[in-house]
This record gives sequence, structure tokens and C-alpha cells, in this order.
Amino acid sequence: MLPTAVLLVLAASVVATDNNTCDGPCGLRFRQSPQGGMRIIGGRPAALGSWPWMVSLQAFSYVDSRRYHRCGGTLLSSHWVLTAAHCFRNKRKVADWRLIFGAKEIVWGNNKPVKPPLQERSAERIIIHEKYSPGSEENDIALIKITPPVPCGPFIGPGCLPQFRAGPPRVPQMCWVTGWGYLKENAARTSPILQEARVNLIDLDLCNSTQWYNGRVHSTNVCAGYPEGKIDTCQGDSGGPLLCRDNTGGAYVVVGVTSWGVGCARAKRPGVYTSTWAYLNWIASKIGSSALYMVQPGTPPPPTSQAPPARPASAQVSGHPPWYFQQLPRPPPFKQPQPQPPAVYRPPRPPSLPPPPRPQPPTKPPQALSFAKRLQQLIEVLKEKTFLNEKGYSEMEITDLPELPASS
Ligand SMILES: *[C@@H]1O[C@H](CO)[C@@H](O)[C@H](O)[C@H]1NC(C)=O
Ligand SMILES: *[C@@H]1O[C@H](CO)[C@@H](O)[C@H](O)[C@H]1NC(C)=O
Repeated sequence: MLPTAVLLVLAASVVATDNNTCDGPCGLRFRQSPQGGMRIIGGRPAALGSWPWMVSLQAFSYVDSRRYHRCGGTLLSSHWVLTAAHCFRNKRKVADWRLIFGAKEIVWGNNKPVKPPLQERSAERIIIHEKYSPGSEENDIALIKITPPVPCGPFIGPGCLPQFRAGPPRVPQMCWVTGWGYLKENAARTSPILQEARVNLIDLDLCNSTQWYNGRVHSTNVCAGYPEGKIDTCQGDSGGPLLCRDNTGGAYVVVGVTSWGVGCARAKRPGVYTSTWAYLNWIASKIGSSALYMVQPGTPPPPTSQAPPARPASAQVSGHPPWYFQQLPRPPPFKQPQPQPPAVYRPPRPPSLPPPPRPQPPTKPPQALSFAKRLQQLIEVLKEKTFLNEKGYSEMEITDLPELPASS
């Protein structure tokens, strides 16, 4: 394992220094954290450059020209970033976004250009899955076209996607999550330092069972975390990757996109992710099959031709890859009149859910309004579904709860 790691690091350095087109091998980490303190929730700070495909999606405010971390994303190539559809619920315009690459530390509300090795880019196009369903969070996947293209280098490199033949991720399996999301469920804002944590993939049927998510999990999801909670993604981690090690080449493969969860790090409420494997055809249809091929590790190098077509999601067997979707961090209380600061950070609720209206008086604690409303709704939903347990649901307002399937 160690020798492999060393080789990978060497290979990555060569590619990184000689080629800035992002056409080199995907999923290679340039650096890794020494053991250390813990954070994401229950993770630890990542070393600079240790997750080079990690992107910070930041909502840009025209009022003060500042940008605020809102979601994570995965760099696929110089031109494309993979993320979650729900990140754009109320910010669909390309002009509303900035993308930061190569960062370990990000500054909340920054209005200064980043310095190398970091790179900042705009979005040329945002492609949300055509069948994204804000109520149930089904098909919670999106792509951003980057403009101008971002160069790869020592701190920026492409992540890998699964091969078509891989199938849904094997369960159980220890994998990784990374992000700048909350360090605890009710944090005031996102983490300035990129966090990483190990999580276990959880059987989808277990995850979907009565005591867990009670029918809210889709076959195109992956669940990851721990039965007892404690380590998990949280708000602000949405759109970022769930990564598992490829068992042949050792590259890190993005098997899931952080989608949703109830609360953060609670027992039997693991992170739910969108399975990238289930959307390979969709991704190929947007970025092109040769671009997809570049980020599928371990396939015979000559992209001779077509990869086997992915099976439709509906044909999937058990075990599905997905992961998480959390509310965005709220903006800090602003002193200056912001037209809709909160809208920037919190996507409007799906119609089917209790709309947390939050008319935002910037001065008032953003929580108060939505809290009561959401709590009420949640209690109703939960009661009805006997989904309630003894845990305090009072904090649920920070998390979107996907709609229950109509059939259940
Ligand atoms: C650099 O990128 C080009 C494509 O632009 C590719 O042909 C070449 O093999 C790459 N070099 C390395 C070292 O990967
Ligand atoms: C989860 O349960 C619901 C309701 O029984 C069902 O419709 C859905 O297909 C299940 N999801 C998976 C992944 O089996």
C-alpha cells in the first residue's frame, strides 16, 4: 500500500508539472494529511492539495461583490465540474456563481481575487438534470461548464468517475467524504478549512428501512456513514464527492455526489448521495463520451471506442451509490442591505415541502422563522409516517427532508 502510494504521488507530480490540460490520470492525490484532529463532522482538516479535484462553489453577491461558499463540486476536466442540482434551486444564473479551485482554506465572504495556486473561474453554463425533483431529491445531479477553462497543476487535478462496468458501489466499503460544510449541525457558517472523513457505504435497503429513511431513498442513491452517526457530511458539503478507492489502480473514484440527510451525523440518518454510476450516460451526453472516458480509470488507455452502455438506473440491482444533500449555510448577518442575501444561500423549498419563507430581515437571526415552520411540518410528516423517534427534531430545520414516495 505504501509503495503504491509513493508511485502514485510520483506519477501525479509528473503529470501535474508537465501538463496543465487536465488530461492526465484522474483521481490521484498529490498530498495526504498526516493523522490529526477531526472534523467535516467527525473528520479532520485535509492537507493542501490532498483532494485536487475539490471545487468550492460560491454564490456571488452583486451587492457587495463578495462570494460565499455554498456547495462542493468535483473537477472532471478543464471545462467541467460535477455537483448537485439542488445547489441551484434559487440560483440558476451563471452570473450568480464563482468556482474556486485548488483551495484548502476558503474565506467566507471574500471579495479579493484568489492567489495561485488557487484559481477562480466563472460558470459558462449550468446543466441541471432534466428530471431533477426538488421534492424527493431524485436525480440530484448537475454539471457546470467552466469559463475560461481551468489549468491543472500541483494542486488542481481531475477526479475519476466509475467505469460503466463497475456497477453500483460495493457495500460495505470504507470511502471518503470531503467538503467545507458545517463542522456541526447548527454551525453558523461553513468550515474555512477543507475537511475529510472516512465513511462506510451502507446497504441501500437498510438505509431505506423504517427505522432509517423509511422509503425516501432511491435506487440511484448511495448511503454512507455509520449506524451510530457521529461522522457525516453536513450543510455546505452538498455537491461534493463521496470517494472510494479503485481496487485495481488505487485512484479515488467519485461514486457519489453529496445530496441530502436528516440533520447531520445522527444515528440512522446517514448521508444520502447521488450515485454517479447511475448517471454516467447522462454525464457523457453532456460533456461528451471522450471527456468521460478520460476520467474513468483503469480502462484500456486507448480510448479506442465506446464503453459499454450503462444500464438504465431502473435496472440497477441492490446497492446503489448516492449521497447527500443539505441546506446551504446561511449567510452571516449582513450589515448592509442585501436585496436577498438569504436567497443566495438557501434554495427555495420544493413546493411540496413547507416553504420556509424567511423574508430576510438581515438583522434578525435567519433561523427563527423557518425553524418553527419546518419543525411543525416535520412533526406532522413524521407523525404520520411514524418516523419519529426520541431524538430531538428541533434541529431539523437545517436539513431538507425529501418528500415521501406517494405510494407509501
Ligand atoms: C498532456 O495533454 C495532452 C493533450 O492536450 C496529451 O496528449 C498529453 O499526453 C498530456 N501529457 C501528459 C504527460 O499526460
Ligand atoms: C425505498 O422504499 C420505497 C418505499 O417502499 C420504495 O418505493 C423505493 O423503491 C425504495 N428504494 C430502494 C432503493 O429500494
